[in-house]
Amino acid sequence: MLFDTHAHLNAEQFDEDRDQVIMRAKENGVSTIVNIGFNRETIPTCIELAEKYDFIYAVVGWHPQDAISMKEEDLDWLEELSKHPKVVGLGEMGLDYYWDTSPRDVQAEVFRKQIRLARKVNMPIIIHDRDAHQDIITILKEEKAEEVGGIMHCYSGSYEMAEIALGMNFYISFGGPLTFKNAKRPKEVAAKIPLDRLLIETDCPYLTPHPFRGKRNESGYVKYVAEEMANIHGLSFEEMSKITNENARRLFNI
Ligand code: NI
Repeated sequence: MLFDTHAHLNAEQFDEDRDQVIMRAKENGVSTIVNIGFNRETIPTCIELAEKYDFIYAVVGWHPQDAISMKEEDLDWLEELSKHPKVVGLGEMGLDYYWDTSPRDVQAEVFRKQIRLARKVNMPIIIHDRDAHQDIITILKEEKAEEVGGIMHCYSGSYEMAEIALGMNFYISFGGPLTFKNAKRPKEVAAKIPLDRLLIETDCPYLTPHPFRGKRNESGYVKYVAEEMANIHGLSFEEMSKITNENARRLFNI
């Protein structure tokens, strides 16, 4: 009963063996996958996969790295897609000050527009935050993101910031980096997150967990994140799988 809340099975890294990867996820106990399309190129495949597989759902949005490419009609497109029965949220959206591939003011504007859209269509949002913690919180507050809530994806911030996000109806999701031996802070933060707000994810093909670190990630590896999270909270693997699965279903309403 594992729920991978953040996958990019639409990425070109899976072009050769996408269906096998999806089948392997099932064999590894993954019962639901939320796949994220994050620009004009990746969204159509994301929708196709959600239509092809009953246990795959779609989230669509504009990644901050691609913010510069978003046009007004793309926002209308996202609104149209939000009515699709397998689309369960909007994102990933946010700010990326590490790569800085779009100007920061453009990133902020595209982020704000998507939060407004999410409030309009009443859907949870998936937040991408790379080295932009303070500005993320400011924008979430100013745009009243607490009305829809969502996920702080692959969370890497402090517990103090997590508390603010929890107060705005967000869930906190952890991925492969949680399993790294030197990941002291993520483990400490994860230990303090209330069980009913915890989620797990892969962000595949990126951020591969131990013991496959450095290789291509895939949804089936979410079990390593679940194992680590179970250890951190002193629960069994089955209990942690059940809790994070229920949390994700509640959030995405599936
Ligand atoms: Ni992602």
